[in-house]
Amino acid sequence: MRFERFTHNAPRAAGVAAILLVLAAAGCSTAAESPAPAEPEATATMPPAAKPEKADAPSTQAGEAKEKKWTPPRFTARQDERDRMVKTIRAYGCTDKAVLAAMAAVPRHEFVPASVASLAYWDRPLPTAHGQTISQPYMVAEMTRLLRLKAGAKVLEIGTGSGYQAAVLTHFTAHVYTIEIIKSLAETAAKRLKRLGYDVVKVRHGDGHFGWAEEAPFDAIIGTAVAGKVPPALIEQLKVGGRMVIPIGPTHGVQRLMLVEKDAPGLVRQRSIMLVRFVPMLRKDPTEK
Ligand SMILES: C[S@@+](CC[C@H](N)C(=O)[O-])C[C@H]1O[C@@H](n2cnc3c(N)ncnc32)[C@H](O)[C@@H]1O
Repeated sequence: MRFERFTHNAPRAAGVAAILLVLAAAGCSTAAESPAPAEPEATATMPPAAKPEKADAPSTQAGEAKEKKWTPPRFTARQDERDRMVKTIRAYGCTDKAVLAAMAAVPRHEFVPASVASLAYWDRPLPTAHGQTISQPYMVAEMTRLLRLKAGAKVLEIGTGSGYQAAVLTHFTAHVYTIEIIKSLAETAAKRLKRLGYDVVKVRHGDGHFGWAEEAPFDAIIGTAVAGKVPPALIEQLKVGGRMVIPIGPTHGVQRLMLVEKDAPGLVRQRSIMLVRFVPMLRKDPTEK
């Protein structure tokens, strides 16, 4: 895994010649019309912390993992709770087997603060640090499904947060790149992913509005913070034939999860999948002076 500091030297995106905006309800959700709460409060009645657990079967070394066949780590702790969580996700209508298997495999309790670890398998977002959140499991599953990842795909995530979504993505591909604007979150997530055996994830501290130009183009891009519009650099860094899912809208107001498909250079289609509620895509690290 690589962790590095990012500076904004990405070139400005080329103009998008045509954008077709088709608003259509799609995907799978009984929750489609009910925004997912983004910033739940940790309450004083939170149960005590759960002990972090080790991977039952550690992965291969980081270097090897890239070259050889990548196998994500396996965990058995709290499997029954994960299975119940997956049932809930399925009940919402997300039935993609590979996505459900990934959700059943990643130990979400390792990615949430100890104070809320007992709630890790509830289908709800949870607070992390600095006012940020780990997304609702259903949302993670549905966004992952929408990417239609193929083995070997190169995927970029904007908003590493805890690293949970990135870990889920490693069940589809070993080529996962993720950017986080809050330095301490980026560092903590990088360490956590390494400790748990998700060695293949490359974490960068920086502003995801600019994407990751040196690693572009990407087969898929997933934004986990809401932006006013799709950042041009992300459109530019998406491969032709690639898919991006990203929440778009105001910080306080109606936000839509958009599916962005690049059909040809300069030909991009956007489609609204469902109403959502996400934390904002920031322009600077609020913890830095
Ligand atoms: C809903 S949380 C993401 C949850 C994360 N995917 C996970 O699995 O835990 C949104 C994250 O986006 C980060 N973020 C906000 N603006 C950003 C930006 N411009 N570039 C990169 N990350 C950003 C926030 O700090 C926050 O950690």
